[in-house]
Amino acid sequence: MKNIAVILASGSGERFGENIPKQFFIFKGKTLLEHSLDAFEKNEYINEIFLVTNPKFRDLAEEILSKNSYKKITKVLNGGKTRVESSYIGTKEAPDNSNVLIHDAVRAFVTQDIINRNIEALNKYQAVGTAIETVDTIIQVDENNCITNIPARSSLKRVQTPQSFRAELIKKAHKMALEENNQNFTDDCGLILQYKLAPIHIVEGDEINLKITQKSDLEIIENLWK
Ligand code: C5P
Repeated sequence: MKNIAVILASGSGERFGENIPKQFFIFKGKTLLEHSLDAFEKNEYINEIFLVTNPKFRDLAEEILSKNSYKKITKVLNGGKTRVESSYIGTKEAPDNSNVLIHDAVRAFVTQDIINRNIEALNKYQAVGTAIETVDTIIQVDENNCITNIPARSSLKRVQTPQSFRAELIKKAHKMALEENNQNFTDDCGLILQYKLAPIHIVEGDEINLKITQKSDLEIIENLWK
């Protein structure tokens, strides 16, 4: 079965008041987008890459692609207003009988082990997520910032990407969300869970697969890189 990486790089970066979205931050001479693409390009089990880019920055993305010699990128698509919309746009292009690995471009230091674990788990499960242990206790609070629940730490994990699926399954989930006009999803596993479409198996992530949301995160990467 074909494995297609869907790289989500359509964020606008406005949240942090940056002029340029985070996927274009530079680390060691390359944009975060290039680091992400490199990881999937070099993985032996990935057959194709669909890049979902922000229409406002499409020229910049194309310029970056032209400087590299990626062989696996078969589609460059304009993303949507929300992450879930961008994910819908990317996954709907995948043939039903393929696997899709949906990945945040800003998790630019995803390891080969993580990608391989996702692909291997897809032999057994139709839906796979990546997560790591939490060392902090996580609390639930209400609108007054008062604690309502302290779930047992042993049952909590921190979500990363890729999140990987049989294309047919995730396309069905997106269609259901679209019919309900439900945009309240921060990740793709949430769609599968909401509509109870399949068990979602979790594979181990890595601290270095951090979501880079501000420039100072690059210092953390610098330290983990050593
Ligand atoms: O904004 P958030 O932290 O959820 O972004 C996670 C990833 O999703 C980023 O790589 C970002 O570029 C992507 N994204 C997208 N389309 C959007 C919003 C975010 O592809 N409309």
